[in-house]
Amino acid sequence: MSTGKQVLVIGGTSGIGRATAEFYARAGHRVILSGRDADRAKAVAVDIGGHSRGIGVDLALPAEIAGSLRDTGHVDHLVLAAVERDQNSVRAYDLDRAIRLTTLKLVGYTEVVHAVAGRMTGGGAAVLVGGLAMTRPYPGSTTVTTVNGGVASLVRTLAFELAPLRFNAVHPALVADTPYWQDKPQAVEGALKRTPTGRLATMDDIVDAIAFLLGNRAMNGANLTIDCGATLG
Ligand SMILES: NC(=O)c1ccc[n+]([C@@H]2O[C@H](COP(=O)([O-])OP(=O)(O)OC[C@H]3O[C@@H](n4cnc5c(N)ncnc54)[C@H](OP(=O)(O)O)[C@@H]3O)[C@@H](O)[C@H]2O)c1
Repeated sequence: MSTGKQVLVIGGTSGIGRATAEFYARAGHRVILSGRDADRAKAVAVDIGGHSRGIGVDLALPAEIAGSLRDTGHVDHLVLAAVERDQNSVRAYDLDRAIRLTTLKLVGYTEVVHAVAGRMTGGGAAVLVGGLAMTRPYPGSTTVTTVNGGVASLVRTLAFELAPLRFNAVHPALVADTPYWQDKPQAVEGALKRTPTGRLATMDDIVDAIAFLLGNRAMNGANLTIDCGATLG
């Protein structure tokens, strides 16, 4: 991995996005990380150090995304990791929640690409973070399953339309050390029992997969499941 790349991480203030931003900043790249609130994103960038800076981008407000991203300069690597949690079911369908997550993860992710694609270099690449719920629904995952399935299709049309830029997605199962799961030991324990390897993926595992997809020029339009073998049985 050569240094000196400009890496834009949308949803880079927490969890997998933040771990990705840290990885690239530590390796000497210039990192722009975003959250909804610019001040929070700037504070996280200071914490991470290196050549990183924070900006505010709200994917639930797609009409404002291009303006929020106007000062990024060129982008070599783009990582889309933002999410807001959603518990939803068809029988008790919460329209506001469904519209919010669908807007954020499908329209919002696409609009970010629309906004920066013209500033991505020929060797540019992006990784979108979906999730295993795309093929493994769980109670309350109606919207999550739908949008992650959408992410799987989105990378294919992006790779097709915006060649030679490359687009891939990672689809993790439960990532044990993300902040979201810290206060849910029972769910983590349950997921652990379903893996033949006796372990769950960590943020480092996911960042490693993201770096592989961004760096390997043969990877394009791929959807990489990362589940420690949980779906084998
Ligand atoms: N954690 C897991 O086990 C797991 C499993 C499968 C898939 N995933 C996927 O992995 C990705 C990262 O998950 P995570 O658990 O690491 O995330 P997280 O810790 O919850 O962080 C979410 C990030 O999204 C940003 N964000 C939230 N709402 C936003 C909005 N409206 N516009 C722009 N940014 C927004 C947050 O920034 P602010 O709060 O600063 O705004 C934060 O940086 C997500 O796409 C998730 O679906 C995670």
